[in-house]
Amino acid sequence: MAYRRPIVAGNWKLNGSRQSSRALAVAIVDGLAGIDLGPARLGGESPPLEVLLCPPFVYLAELADLLAVSQLRLGAQDVAAEDVGAFTGEVAAAMLREVGCRYVITGHSERRALFGDTDEKVAGKVLAALRAGLSPILCVGETRSERDAGHTLTVVRRQLDVVLAALDSGRVSASERRLISVAYEPVWAIGTGLSPTPAEAQAVHADIRATVGRRDATMAFDLRVLYGGSVKASNAKDLFAMQDIDGGLIGGAALLAGEFVSICKAAAS
Ligand code: PGA
Repeated sequence: MAYRRPIVAGNWKLNGSRQSSRALAVAIVDGLAGIDLGPARLGGESPPLEVLLCPPFVYLAELADLLAVSQLRLGAQDVAAEDVGAFTGEVAAAMLREVGCRYVITGHSERRALFGDTDEKVAGKVLAALRAGLSPILCVGETRSERDAGHTLTVVRRQLDVVLAALDSGRVSASERRLISVAYEPVWAIGTGLSPTPAEAQAVHADIRATVGRRDATMAFDLRVLYGGSVKASNAKDLFAMQDIDGGLIGGAALLAGEFVSICKAAAS
């Protein structure tokens, strides 16, 4: 993990209240006070880590104000594929950017399974994020039955390929491609307490990098591939020690300030 600067992202999902979101953000900022989370430095040694919080949409603006005095960054949990128009209930990438988001999660398995996000729809969301200068975190991962059938790599490659083809046909530039991260999240590991061994996760991460590399070697080299699915303080260090695991997308443990701070520290060391 040494070359690429790791990211730890907290995905708060549909949890919390205005008050509890503020309190959680404050506790995390306090817990990380001793760690430099500042921007990457060209030509010098960069700070060890990037940390972002992804609260529900309605709390983004308020948390942006709160985080402005810290070095933590803000992400949204989803984004519209369209930029403007008659799309009731949607939130555009430019709106997210305007309220202070730098990142957005796209294609989370809960959106794919429960809200009809197809591979093509997810590709549209990635492109929409890039048009607004947001950094998309593209989630991929297999279900339990796909894994049991031995289809993990086939599924993950298909999910990636649809997005990579859209980048090519959309003539997305090298600098925009650098904004993209991938999160490998085996669906069976999300919220279950189960997780692949670090070696199993590493094998999929390496395949993700190779799949990207078959189309774009430069993008693959720089690409940060996060692991997500039942990451906790007790397993984070071993996962993050793997060569192609460049941080984590954290769900349940991101709602507990102490756990989340410990996970961040594991990624920074
Ligand atoms: P989990 O969720 O950490 O609760 O397993 C991860 C995610 O869904 O991003």
